[in-house]
Amino acid sequence: MALYNETVMEHFMNPHNVGEIENPDGKGTYGSPVCGDMMQITIKVDEEEKIVDAKFKTFGCGSAIASSSMATDMIIGMSVEEALDLSNKKIVDELGGLPPAKIHCSVLAEHAIKSAIYDYATKYGKTYAGLEGFDPDAEEDHHHDDIEEE
Ligand code: FES
Repeated sequence: MALYNETVMEHFMNPHNVGEIENPDGKGTYGSPVCGDMMQITIKVDEEEKIVDAKFKTFGCGSAIASSSMATDMIIGMSVEEALDLSNKKIVDELGGLPPAKIHCSVLAEHAIKSAIYDYATKYGKTYAGLEGFDPDAEEDHHHDDIEEE
Protein backbone atom coordinates (compact mmCIF):
# COMPACT_ATOMS: atom_id res chain seq x y z
CA MET A 1 0.00 0.00 0.00
CA ALA A 2 1.66 3.18 -1.14
CA LEU A 3 0.40 6.16 0.82
CA TYR A 4 2.99 8.47 -0.70
CA ASN A 5 3.80 8.68 -4.38
CA GLU A 6 7.33 8.58 -5.81
CA THR A 7 7.74 12.34 -6.11
CA VAL A 8 6.81 12.85 -2.47
CA MET A 9 9.17 10.06 -1.38
CA GLU A 10 12.00 11.46 -3.50
CA HIS A 11 11.65 14.94 -1.98
CA PHE A 12 11.37 13.44 1.50
CA MET A 13 14.45 11.23 1.11
CA ASN A 14 16.56 13.82 -0.75
CA PRO A 15 15.09 17.18 0.12
CA HIS A 16 16.26 20.23 -1.81
CA ASN A 17 17.15 23.61 -0.29
CA VAL A 18 17.60 22.44 3.29
CA GLY A 19 19.24 24.89 5.67
CA GLU A 20 19.29 28.58 6.32
CA ILE A 21 20.49 31.49 4.18
CA GLU A 22 22.95 33.78 5.91
CA ASN A 23 21.80 37.41 6.03
CA PRO A 24 18.49 36.61 4.32
CA ASP A 25 16.28 39.34 2.87
CA GLY A 26 13.31 37.63 4.47
CA LYS A 27 12.91 35.07 7.21
CA GLY A 28 9.63 33.53 8.31
CA THR A 29 8.68 30.96 10.85
CA TYR A 30 5.27 29.42 11.04
CA GLY A 31 3.75 26.96 13.47
CA SER A 32 0.91 24.75 12.29
CA PRO A 33 -2.23 25.17 14.39
CA VAL A 34 -3.19 21.63 13.35
CA CYS A 35 -0.18 19.63 14.53
CA GLY A 36 2.14 22.11 16.25
CA ASP A 37 5.01 21.48 13.83
CA MET A 38 7.25 24.37 12.81
CA MET A 39 8.70 25.60 9.56
CA GLN A 40 11.32 28.24 8.88
CA ILE A 41 11.96 29.72 5.44
CA THR A 42 14.71 32.15 4.50
CA ILE A 43 14.80 33.92 1.14
CA LYS A 44 17.20 36.02 -0.88
CA VAL A 45 15.59 38.61 -3.18
CA ASP A 46 17.34 40.69 -5.86
CA GLU A 47 16.69 44.33 -6.90
CA GLU A 48 14.09 43.20 -9.41
CA GLU A 49 12.10 41.63 -6.59
CA LYS A 50 12.92 38.17 -7.83
CA ILE A 51 13.57 35.34 -5.39
CA VAL A 52 17.06 34.09 -6.16
CA ASP A 53 17.41 31.62 -3.30
CA ALA A 54 15.26 29.95 -0.67
CA LYS A 55 16.01 27.48 2.09
CA PHE A 56 13.95 25.73 4.71
CA LYS A 57 14.35 24.12 8.09
CA THR A 58 11.54 22.22 9.68
CA PHE A 59 10.50 20.49 12.81
CA GLY A 60 7.85 18.69 10.88
CA CYS A 61 6.82 15.43 9.30
CA GLY A 62 7.84 13.83 6.00
CA SER A 63 5.03 15.57 4.14
CA ALA A 64 6.20 18.92 5.50
CA ILE A 65 9.73 18.13 4.30
CA ALA A 66 8.52 17.08 0.84
CA SER A 67 6.20 20.10 0.61
CA SER A 68 8.87 22.62 1.53
CA SER A 69 11.48 20.97 -0.67
CA MET A 70 9.06 21.27 -3.61
CA ALA A 71 7.80 24.73 -2.61
CA THR A 72 11.30 26.23 -2.30
CA ASP A 73 12.20 24.70 -5.69
CA MET A 74 9.11 26.36 -7.14
CA ILE A 75 9.68 29.87 -5.74
CA ILE A 76 13.36 30.14 -6.69
CA GLY A 77 13.27 32.20 -9.88
CA MET A 78 9.79 33.57 -9.23
CA SER A 79 9.00 37.20 -8.56
CA VAL A 80 7.82 37.96 -5.04
CA GLU A 81 4.30 38.54 -6.44
CA GLU A 82 4.28 35.14 -8.12
CA ALA A 83 5.52 33.45 -4.95
CA LEU A 84 2.69 35.04 -2.97
CA ASP A 85 0.31 33.37 -5.36
CA LEU A 86 1.69 29.92 -4.55
CA SER A 87 -1.12 28.15 -2.75
CA ASN A 88 -0.70 24.94 -0.84
CA LYS A 89 -2.91 23.36 -3.49
CA LYS A 90 -0.35 24.12 -6.19
CA ILE A 91 2.38 22.59 -4.04
CA VAL A 92 0.29 19.45 -3.52
CA ASP A 93 -0.50 19.25 -7.25
CA GLU A 94 3.17 19.55 -8.12
CA LEU A 95 3.91 16.75 -5.66
CA GLY A 96 1.31 14.61 -7.40
CA GLY A 97 -0.92 14.56 -4.32
CA LEU A 98 -0.75 14.03 -0.57
CA PRO A 99 -3.05 11.95 1.64
CA PRO A 100 -5.98 14.11 2.91
CA ALA A 101 -4.74 13.98 6.51
CA LYS A 102 -1.46 15.50 5.35
CA ILE A 103 -2.77 18.51 3.42
CA HIS A 104 -2.13 20.80 6.39
CA CYS A 105 1.60 20.03 6.08
CA SER A 106 1.60 21.79 2.70
CA VAL A 107 -0.22 24.73 4.32
CA LEU A 108 2.75 24.95 6.70
CA ALA A 109 5.07 25.47 3.69
CA GLU A 110 2.76 28.03 2.06
CA HIS A 111 2.42 30.08 5.25
CA ALA A 112 6.13 29.96 6.07
CA ILE A 113 6.87 31.35 2.59
CA LYS A 114 4.30 34.11 3.10
CA SER A 115 5.85 34.88 6.50
CA ALA A 116 9.31 35.18 4.92
CA ILE A 117 7.93 37.50 2.23
CA TYR A 118 6.12 39.49 4.91
CA ASP A 119 9.43 39.97 6.67
CA TYR A 120 11.08 41.03 3.39
CA ALA A 121 8.25 43.48 2.63
CA THR A 122 8.42 45.00 6.11
CA LYS A 123 12.20 45.36 5.94
CA TYR A 124 12.24 46.95 2.49
CA GLY A 125 9.02 48.97 2.77
CA LYS A 126 7.13 47.10 0.04
CA THR A 127 3.43 46.39 -0.20
CA TYR A 128 1.87 43.50 -2.05
CA ALA A 129 -1.77 42.70 -2.68
CA GLY A 130 -1.00 39.07 -1.89
CA LEU A 131 -0.04 40.02 1.66
CA GLU A 132 -3.22 41.92 2.43
CA GLY A 133 -4.74 40.64 5.65
CA PHE A 134 -1.80 38.36 6.30
CA ASP A 135 -0.47 38.54 9.82
CA PRO A 136 2.23 35.95 10.49
CA ASP A 137 1.83 36.14 14.25
CA ALA A 138 -1.93 36.23 14.55
CA GLU A 139 -2.36 33.14 12.41
CA GLU A 140 -0.53 30.87 14.80
CA ASP A 141 -3.43 31.08 17.21
CA HIS A 142 -6.12 30.43 14.65
CA HIS A 143 -8.13 27.31 14.69
CA HIS A 144 -9.06 25.06 11.86
CA ASP A 145 -11.43 27.40 10.04
CA ASP A 146 -8.93 29.01 7.70
CA ILE A 147 -6.91 25.92 6.95
CA GLU A 148 -7.38 24.76 3.42
CA GLU A 149 -8.01 21.08 3.91
CA GLU A 150 -9.72 19.05 1.29
FE1 FES B 1 2.82 18.41 11.23
FE2 FES B 1 2.91 17.23 8.88
S1 FES B 1 2.04 16.46 10.69
S2 FES B 1 3.60 19.17 9.37
